Amino acid sequence: MNVVNVDLGENSYPIYIGNNLFVDKQLIHTLLNGSQVMIVTNTTVKPLYLDQLLDQLNEFKVTSIALQDGEQYKTLASVNQIFDELLNQRFSRNATLIALGGGVVGDMTGFAAACYLRGINFIQIPTTLLAQVDSSVGGKTGVNHPLGKNMIGAFYQPQGVFADTSVLHTLPERELMAGVAEVIKYGLIYDIEFLAWLENHVDQILKLEDSALSYAIQRSCEIKAAIVSADEKESGLRAILNLGHTFGHAIEAGCGYGQYLHGEAVAIGMCLALELSHRLQRINLDDVVRGITLIERTGLPSTLPPELTADDFLRLMAVDKKNVDGNIRVIVLNQLGQAALPETVNSGLLRQTINEYGDMRS
Ligand code: NAD
Ligand code: GLY
Repeated sequence: MNVVNVDLGENSYPIYIGNNLFVDKQLIHTLLNGSQVMIVTNTTVKPLYLDQLLDQLNEFKVTSIALQDGEQYKTLASVNQIFDELLNQRFSRNATLIALGGGVVGDMTGFAAACYLRGINFIQIPTTLLAQVDSSVGGKTGVNHPLGKNMIGAFYQPQGVFADTSVLHTLPERELMAGVAEVIKYGLIYDIEFLAWLENHVDQILKLEDSALSYAIQRSCEIKAAIVSADEKESGLRAILNLGHTFGHAIEAGCGYGQYLHGEAVAIGMCLALELSHRLQRINLDDVVRGITLIERTGLPSTLPPELTADDFLRLMAVDKKNVDGNIRVIVLNQLGQAALPETVNSGLLRQTINEYGDMRS
């Protein structure tokens, strides 16, 4: 087992990474304080892993709730179901919520923990690769609004994260690839050596070979932990974790949540961000090709949704948390392995990049 610490003073916490952590009773007990525990999962993950987790918690008063599965259910209405259950069961301030699922379950459970009685403890047990390398770490919690993704939420850190590689064996291949998109992101924004390592090991990761998978998760979590520790509330550096996300969120919202997986939309968004970085004369064409080649080798999409025009992108990108005074800000690379802080890019260049990239790769 490996441990990565997220260093946030009194809000610091461990990320445990290993194979079969799920059955380590002592480890999870160390993070629980009161006797009341509620596991929040969804209807897909429940039959796979809930009983296994319940077996570890037989000394606690455990209840569970299974939300409907899907990004379209990442709503205040779903979070309200968690509140209903917590209130019905008379859960008090020393209770703990456990998120058992992917990023959708994790983001909503964290938000419920942040709000219930003005804040109770919570633990993340991420069961998708994307959640293990990204969403379970760093304390961004929340839900979607019809006018924008993740627009309602709170920064709220968990007490700990358990990333168990064995649960990834039941994950659909498409979801696994979507997680690899966020892993590639870390190489592009922060660590050229990790990018090179990924070029040599992406096939092993996709085959779920444990040593490659564990290292990919560990290095991703180390990078995310370093960035979050330096800038928890995203006043600057943390925004680099959004490489490709401004374009990606536009794709998710514009095509209807659920048509593209988050990681797929981010993969296309990273291709656009590479192209834009080149047009801003930060990286050369070989770097663009290198990034896009790795994305395509993973099996991720790199072409734009035909139904979205450049105007659609610009309209949708206008609703983004990074924007300032109504100006669209995006993350570009200064070089491969090093992202720049968010910057305003004029809409003419954005439109041209989207149109010409679309024409080149349709
Ligand atoms: P998800 O939670 O929808 O999970 C993907 C699918 O896999 C779901 O159908 C789920 O039920 C299923 N699943 C989960 N674990 C499984 C397993 N072990 N075996 C079989 N099926 C399993 O999607 P995701 O990709 O995990 O997360 C995407 C969400 O995360 C988005 O809402 C995104 O906004 C959010 N996100 C948040 C952050 C953050 O910092 N908080 C970062 C990145 C993404
Ligand atoms: N996934 C982006 C962040 O956590 O800041």
